[in-house]
Amino acid sequence: MDKAALKTTADNLVKSGKGILAADESTGTAGKRLASIGMDNTEDNRRAMRDMFFSTSGAAEYISGVILFEETLGQDRVDGKHSFATDMMAHGVIPGIKVDKGLEDAFETGEKVTNGLDGLPERLAGYYQQGARFAKWRSVFSITDTLPSAACIAENCDRLARYAKMCQEAAIVPIVEPEMLMDASGAGHTIDQAYAATVRVHKALFKKLEEHGVYLGGVLLKPSMVIEGHACDVCTTTNDVAEMTVKCLKESVPADVAGVVFLSGGQADTQATEHLNIMNQIAEKQGGLPWPLSFSYGRALQGEALRAWGGREDALENARATFLHRAKMNSLATKGLYTADKEDGLCLGKCACA
Ligand code: 13P
Repeated sequence: MDKAALKTTADNLVKSGKGILAADESTGTAGKRLASIGMDNTEDNRRAMRDMFFSTSGAAEYISGVILFEETLGQDRVDGKHSFATDMMAHGVIPGIKVDKGLEDAFETGEKVTNGLDGLPERLAGYYQQGARFAKWRSVFSITDTLPSAACIAENCDRLARYAKMCQEAAIVPIVEPEMLMDASGAGHTIDQAYAATVRVHKALFKKLEEHGVYLGGVLLKPSMVIEGHACDVCTTTNDVAEMTVKCLKESVPADVAGVVFLSGGQADTQATEHLNIMNQIAEKQGGLPWPLSFSYGRALQGEALRAWGGREDALENARATFLHRAKMNSLATKGLYTADKEDGLCLGKCACA
């Protein structure tokens, strides 16, 4: 295992002011995003959607890497001149790849396990050849009075650790993503329940990573923020979420981990930005945390731009400006420098956030 190369990649992904774009929606999920703007789920439309984001001029200032779905990693851009991965590398953006094969019902409790370990070393070797230098594996956990169950935590964390080890042996940085679902049907858990469940899962995960000999300096953690479920009627403030999340990380994440890159999980775009911003302000007040806190957002980076685009050629420039603006706001949040008044206007020269 080349620890130095892994560390360099991991550090570059969380370099100051930068975060990750999660554009690795499976074909089915990409179809839902396209349907929301009245487009069919064809390969050309998926390519056009990805091209809109990836060819946004200036985004590389805020985006260090992009997580891709397998189809996109091997795909050419709309102009047919280069593959997406080649184009990204030319702009200093690191291509990544979602390697898990999705969720399966596996427990009497209704909880799910993540599949994808079969043949993974061979797939990783191919992804490396195509330019991928980091990967993602997502496990999901529901929170109730009795969940997540011990069996679900043990199995999913074991798979995350085995995936992480295989990645590192293939010179690919693993992102380990244990997602606490905040927007699953019926998710009515309180922030305190989210806190307890997240600590439990993180502790189990890092124990497994240690058992499997995973090098933490070459790992990124992609956690959920500690936040109540959508259906919870006990309100919390932005400060509560930020404080509880920082406290949870300090309690459950070893200092050697290279970085923490949050998922947005169904939060509104600006809410995800605000939470990250306050966490970084708290970190600074506390004299720094062992790891950079950044973003690996899917919906919270892409949603607004997708609506601005609507599949229309004449709306492309506006959609790209919308995406660039969101990326810039989140970049500011990684330094604790975001303020709501910077939301007025868009980038590409017309931006009030400059
Ligand atoms: P969201 O930010 O939309 O939650 O997506 C991030 C992700 O990669 C989920 O696996």
